[in-house]
Amino acid sequence: MNINKNYQNLKEGYLFQTISEKVKKHSKENPDLKIIRLGIGDVTRPLAPPVIDAMHKAVAEMGMAESFRGYGDYEGYSFLRAAVCGYYAKKGVALREDEVFVSDGAKSDLANILDIFSSGNTVVIPDPVYPVYVDTNIMAGRKIIYMDGNADNAFLPMPKSGVKADIIYLCSPNNPTGAVYGKKQLERWVSYALENDAVILFDGAYEIFVQDRDLPTSIYQISGADRCAIEFCSLSKTAGFTGTRCGYTVVPQALMRDGESLNKLWLRRQATKFNGVSYVVQRGAEAVFTKNGMERIKGDISYYLENARIITDALTELGIWFTGGKNAPYIWLKCPGRMSSWEFFDVLLCKAGVVATPGAGFGANGEGFLRLTAFGDRENLIEAMGRIKAVCG
Ligand code: MLT
Repeated sequence: MNINKNYQNLKEGYLFQTISEKVKKHSKENPDLKIIRLGIGDVTRPLAPPVIDAMHKAVAEMGMAESFRGYGDYEGYSFLRAAVCGYYAKKGVALREDEVFVSDGAKSDLANILDIFSSGNTVVIPDPVYPVYVDTNIMAGRKIIYMDGNADNAFLPMPKSGVKADIIYLCSPNNPTGAVYGKKQLERWVSYALENDAVILFDGAYEIFVQDRDLPTSIYQISGADRCAIEFCSLSKTAGFTGTRCGYTVVPQALMRDGESLNKLWLRRQATKFNGVSYVVQRGAEAVFTKNGMERIKGDISYYLENARIITDALTELGIWFTGGKNAPYIWLKCPGRMSSWEFFDVLLCKAGVVATPGAGFGANGEGFLRLTAFGDRENLIEAMGRIKAVCG
């Protein structure tokens, strides 16, 4: 018996797992220390009342023979897919229900989608980047070409002539840098994908944080994207579903490769390997897209963006270079005193009791940077920035 040897090419631990183990160890050694977590992008605002009400109602339905539900549709309940289509219509994007697939979150689908592509494909991935894109392609043994993101290109790499890609990952607003592609930039990516017969895997998990009305919040706002892009969205950061689990993936009917409909292939894959998200959670997710639900969650997004402002004000005061935090919940900063990412991570953990994410964990170009998240509870966040000021000031 042989194992999948590609796993030997992975770093030993998944980034956030490694951080969590380090933090656990530090906590154990310093039991009286109050650790403040600005590392993994985990939300702190509770689920909105309309979501909770919808879930309670759904739980009650599950307890009565006449409204009980067993297996749902593989692609998700029609009521939720219709709600997602309504959300896109407000962005000026016309979607059909059969183009929307409900999932347990963007992370799983970004990895699972690779099932429908040949492992012989070449993948283009930005660096720095959310580690799931890299790790899942290493697991499958695909050839990866990295595109450099740096301060010179505002961490928004653009297509390079001479690079032949089959699969392209774009994340906007970006995790980890908070950078957001403009319309013209996405138009260039769409043209490049169409010219190269490539498919863009567009991670839009943070789209709701975009405040600047000129910035696209969906790749399908770009003409031609329905022929070259799959979009992944999540309610994790949008509506506090990190623990509840629900997201959706859009695979347009117009998207064909190798003579096959990718929508059909994805449905085939999901029907075989996935039994869907629970009815109760899908009812809660549907409530996110109601008028009341949207108003509540937009209040939470404003709360997180105000947190981001508090972080960036403190960094400005300290004279630390940063980007992000305006249309995204992440702040990407240069480690002071030429420290490496992990050195600064250790300083913040050991001297300030604050957990951050080392930029090096997002790729070679992340070395020397650190990511802070704005998802914390306000009081803790203010305390964390006070501690960081005391250590770095
Ligand atoms: C992050 O901190 O990058 C994200 O929370 C991780 C994720 O969404 O899986």
